[in-house]
Amino acid sequence: MASSVKDVRITTEPAASAPPVVPWGNYRFPPGLRYNLPLYMLAGFFDRRNPILLFEHLSRFGRAAHYRILSHHVILLNDPSDIREVLVDKAQFFIKERTQKRMKILLGDGLITADGETHKRHRRIAAPAFHRQRIQAYAGTIVEYAAAMREQWRPGTQTDIAAEMMRLALQITARTLFDTEVTPEIHTINDEANAVMDMYNALVAMPCVEELLRWRIPVPVLMRFRKSKARLDAVVDKMIAAKQAESAKAAREGRPVGGDLLSMLIAARDETDGSNHPSTGMSGKELRDEVLTLFLAGYETVANALSWTWLLLGQNPEAEARLHAELDATLLDSSGKARLPTLEDLPRLPYTEMVMAESMRLYPPAWAMGRQATQDIEIGPYRVPKGTYFLFSQYIIQRNPRYFPDPLAFRPERFTAQAKAQRPKFAYFPFGGGGRQCIGESFAWMEAVLVLATLAQRWRLKVIENQQIALQPKITLRPKFGIQVIPNPRS
Ligand code: HEM
Repeated sequence: MASSVKDVRITTEPAASAPPVVPWGNYRFPPGLRYNLPLYMLAGFFDRRNPILLFEHLSRFGRAAHYRILSHHVILLNDPSDIREVLVDKAQFFIKERTQKRMKILLGDGLITADGETHKRHRRIAAPAFHRQRIQAYAGTIVEYAAAMREQWRPGTQTDIAAEMMRLALQITARTLFDTEVTPEIHTINDEANAVMDMYNALVAMPCVEELLRWRIPVPVLMRFRKSKARLDAVVDKMIAAKQAESAKAAREGRPVGGDLLSMLIAARDETDGSNHPSTGMSGKELRDEVLTLFLAGYETVANALSWTWLLLGQNPEAEARLHAELDATLLDSSGKARLPTLEDLPRLPYTEMVMAESMRLYPPAWAMGRQATQDIEIGPYRVPKGTYFLFSQYIIQRNPRYFPDPLAFRPERFTAQAKAQRPKFAYFPFGGGGRQCIGESFAWMEAVLVLATLAQRWRLKVIENQQIALQPKITLRPKFGIQVIPNPRS
């Protein structure tokens, strides 16, 4: 038996006695924590390094739970229809919640952090670059890098598959975003972005961090952040300038611009005013914010999804055997020999996709998200004041036995078209939903399925027993100590 993750076990149904709403003046709150959150500092469920424990505790209140942090009201939603109201039906009354907005110090006004008109404009400009047909051009690149990696693995050699998936996803991001190898510049972006992520919790918790940064207050963590951010900006600006020069040269010579995402963003125009004037493209600062956003959003998420998938396959030999059977039956050339997967194979690999879907149910790379109400608002049976934060966790909902019976079992069959049609949409939302649904979703599915197919075609990964595997819920859900495996060739 492979080591199992010390999972948070979300198997509780609402307590029958919990009152559905708690009246408070003109408002109706869900039940929840009686005291301000910081007063629970010594409680078992309060662990700053693992907020999933708090969410698990709160999920016992049923449909939704309320708590306060100082003067702020926070509501954890646990019901797909209420989440839908926030993300889709009443989305215009919400902005991103505080911790995501705080990311502005790193990502400026990129797609993840921007709100309102700025967000709409950026989404319009970036959308064509993520169109299904555009991103399909990357399928060959993805398979090429995965195929190179599968040649490097050695039978019987202990390997940290989480580190390997990060390495592979970084190569694919460098090529598809910048059309480059993993150069020293890419390493700098990666290292500095990681350094900032490590400071993230401290920065988010700091009151008035934006002002403190602006006034150059000499607090060590802020000084480190400023240094990392300055390095990031310098490297990204240099890469953008080089790409702009390349694109201008291509235009002068009547050649098409490059197919990488950055070239497409440089060439993209906001054509809603009908003028197609160059000034409606992205400015240098906008490009930099977007490049950093895409770099961070696109690489670690996919790497984590793949890492957890290897763990689950190692723990579930039946599912692993079915996956191998599908790959062996599908990926054949005209003489019946095994060949690498291609874009055209994707519709013929339904089980491989179901394996990825089930893996992202149990270990969603984006494990929680949130919004803040810009006015008094009614959601489900509740009515809450302007400024209230709504949080919802993919990790919690996607383990709810009401939607996923025997929730801790790994069963890719939960994702047949028929099974999916029987569930409410927001019982499973690894890519969010509504107008801010992940712009890279098609890209992510394509990358994950092709990488899994290419590697699993050649290798079976045995998960090493008795290793410590733990959740590290940072911005994405990482395996804290990596995942050690032994690759064994399949034939
Ligand atoms: C398994 C992989 C991925 C997962 C689980 C994931 C998840 C998510 C989620 C949940 C959101 C919504 C956040 C919110 O509304 O608060 C989001 C947004 C976003 N994602 Fe992804 N993502 C993945 C891969 C990617 C890739 C590959 C890219 C780009 C190449 C990308 C770029 C973005 C961007 C730019 C946004 C912001 C969209 C907006 O607000 O308009 N993501 N992602």
